[in-house]
Amino acid sequence: MWRWRNGFVAICGISLILSLLALWVGHQKQAASAKIELGRYLFYETGLSEGHSLACANCHQQMFAFSDGRKTAINVHGDKGRRNASALFNLAQNTSFTWANPLQTDLAFQALIPLFGDDPIEMAAGSVEQIQQRLASSSIDYTSLFVSAFGSSEINLARITDALAAFQSQLLAYDSRYDRYQAGQHDALTEFEKAGLALFESERFGCRQCHEGSNFNQFMGSRHNQATKNFHNTGLYYTETGYPSSDLGLYEVTFDAADRGKFKTPSLRNVGVSAPYMHDGSMRYLAQVVEHYARGGSVNLNGIKGDGKLNPNKSHLIKGFDMSEQEQNQLVAFLMTLTDETLLTDPRLAKPD
Ligand code: HEC
Ligand code: HEC
Repeated sequence: MWRWRNGFVAICGISLILSLLALWVGHQKQAASAKIELGRYLFYETGLSEGHSLACANCHQQMFAFSDGRKTAINVHGDKGRRNASALFNLAQNTSFTWANPLQTDLAFQALIPLFGDDPIEMAAGSVEQIQQRLASSSIDYTSLFVSAFGSSEINLARITDALAAFQSQLLAYDSRYDRYQAGQHDALTEFEKAGLALFESERFGCRQCHEGSNFNQFMGSRHNQATKNFHNTGLYYTETGYPSSDLGLYEVTFDAADRGKFKTPSLRNVGVSAPYMHDGSMRYLAQVVEHYARGGSVNLNGIKGDGKLNPNKSHLIKGFDMSEQEQNQLVAFLMTLTDETLLTDPRLAKPD
């Protein structure tokens, strides 16, 4: 009898612990998905900017793989910035954020730049109180969104940036035709595109030396190296005074003369929809990008006089190569297979109704 009772009590105890554990895990999951949902509302929220004029999503639009289709971004005051808005996906695979700052490694912190940055001004969010007021006057019930995500209605910067990062970590793009081909579906690429892939991987074209790894944004030598190894001067410009001073890239962080004109190697996923290209949006077409590499640098690009091929800071990995017109078309056709249609159309990533 006693033994039976003890066993019964023990089983009850264990099941109680298990159900509490399940409840807790469920609660954590719910909080995580509530944070993502809040982040999604905030990503599409113009109330984070001066005069309700811009949301993150204005410069990071789903149909362009969360870039904006513009040469360079346009801020709350309608002024053009100097840099092309980055496409946003697979952000966990970035060793750093923005085009040329190896110190910028925290996705949540990154949001403070468009919100409060003054060089360039982007969203001009103002004070935390102003953000709170704008969110309070919104038709969206932010009070309950913050309660579900964080357990109380307090709106502060840590919570806003944390939720934005949670949403952005959902922007995943690993389901392109190229990925299906890699996974063994041989007919996912045409013969023409496969020929382009072979050129991309070839030593002659040398693309993989920098666009390495599953996200095409790692420099081969960089894994156990300092983060700045992912930055290169690809020979876009070389004026009488050197690199155009409007944007010196990595140099602006390191002040090392050799870093003038070095920018982060971007992912090549979704380049089919994220034109224009390069840190300053100076190239409209992929064919033009491929020509640039074949020549080993660009001449008089973007109306800026000079031959980037001769830039002494240019990476020694960009030497130029011979290619036929057919090969150029094949390489471009391959780059177009890196588009993940789900990223562009998934309603869970779109503006909430
Ligand atoms: C006015 C247009 C504009 C707005 C609004 C904007 N961004 Fe950006 N975003 C850019 C530009 C331009 C860059 C590249 C900046 C650079 O390299 O200096 C960028 C870069 C980024 C990056 C780095 C991506 C990478 O792979 O390096 C992230 C992340 C990002 N933005 C998130 C956000 C979030 C979150 C918001 C809203 C809080 C936002 N952006 C609002 C234009 C904008
Ligand atoms: C030395 C390293 C290096 C090599 C080799 C290289 N790239 Fe790049 N690639 C970069 C960097 C760095 C950028 C950005 C440069 C800038 O904006 O100033 C870039 C930009 C690009 C872009 C524009 C992406 C965007 O979102 O704007 C494309 C497309 C591209 N490369 C394709 C290629 C192809 C194809 C090859 C081979 C023919 C190649 N790259 C070889 C480093 C490299």
